[in-house]
Amino acid sequence: MLLPGFDKASMARAIAIACVMVALAGAFAAGAAANEIKGAHGRAGLTCTNCHGDDGAPSRPAMSVCLGCHVSYDAIAAKTAHLSPNPHKSHQGELRCTYCHSAHDTPKLYCNECHDFKHLNLK
Ligand code: HEC
Ligand code: HEC
Ligand code: HEC
Ligand code: HEC
Repeated sequence: MLLPGFDKASMARAIAIACVMVALAGAFAAGAAANEIKGAHGRAGLTCTNCHGDDGAPSRPAMSVCLGCHVSYDAIAAKTAHLSPNPHKSHQGELRCTYCHSAHDTPKLYCNECHDFKHLNLK
């Protein structure tokens, strides 16, 4: 079936574009259901686009996105300076935040791949 005003090629193109859009919308809706914004980010009223932008399906955000609000490793290390060792200032340098933190899933202390720091509690 051809819609009035469409030739075969542009009809195929329109259908292909519509399919991609439906697939993207589906992925985003599934993501929204499975990806509750946990902890302080949820309470602070962040939305998906704060971390994922708004072009295309969400992927793991770059560290620069986190630092857009959290400023710098030095600034975060100052907040956890009371902890020994300081998880934000160690021989591991400036690790990607998602080595330890997760916006949606259970966080995991990367240091404990080798150590056993039981007192460092991730939310
Ligand atoms: C505070 C930043 C932040 C916010 C806000 C956020 N996300 Fe995420 N999202 C992440 C991070 C970081 C990951 C990487 C996995 C992880 O660490 O949880 C991720 C992963 C994902 C993934 C999996 C991507 C992949 O390639 O595996 C989807 C889908 C997703 N988020 C959807 C959403 C949706 C939908 C919202 C809004 C309801 C949202 N996110 C809000 C940071 C965020
Ligand atoms: C749009 C701004 C914004 C972005 C982007 C953002 N955050 Fe946050 N984050 C906040 C605010 C606001 C809070 C609550 C106040 C505070 O603790 O500074 C917070 C709190 C946190 C906390 C404290 C944990 C808790 O739940 O109490 C962690 C850890 C954190 N952010 C990590 C990240 C990581 C990792 C990323 C990147 C994936 C990120 N943030 C991106 C604004 C942001
Ligand atoms: C090696 C693991 C690790 C990495 C990598 C890491 N963090 Fe953390 N972060 C922690 C731990 C552990 C805590 C909780 C400390 C506590 O209170 O017990 C924490 C706490 C925080 C807090 C709350 C500070 C407060 O006010 O008490 C923020 C904000 C934060 N991290 C942001 C970040 C951001 C942004 C990045 C990346 C630039 C990052 N972290 C990288 C382990 C890590
Ligand atoms: C790949 C393995 C590995 C990871 C991951 C790792 N470390 Fe280490 N760390 C070591 C080794 C090896 C030493 C040296 C041990 C020695 O000489 O006693 C060390 C030594 C240390 C020391 C000084 C010695 C001590 O035990 O007091 C501290 C503090 C430390 N690490 C903190 C951290 C922190 C914080 C993290 C996470 C940000 C981390 N490490 C991640 C392997 C690791």
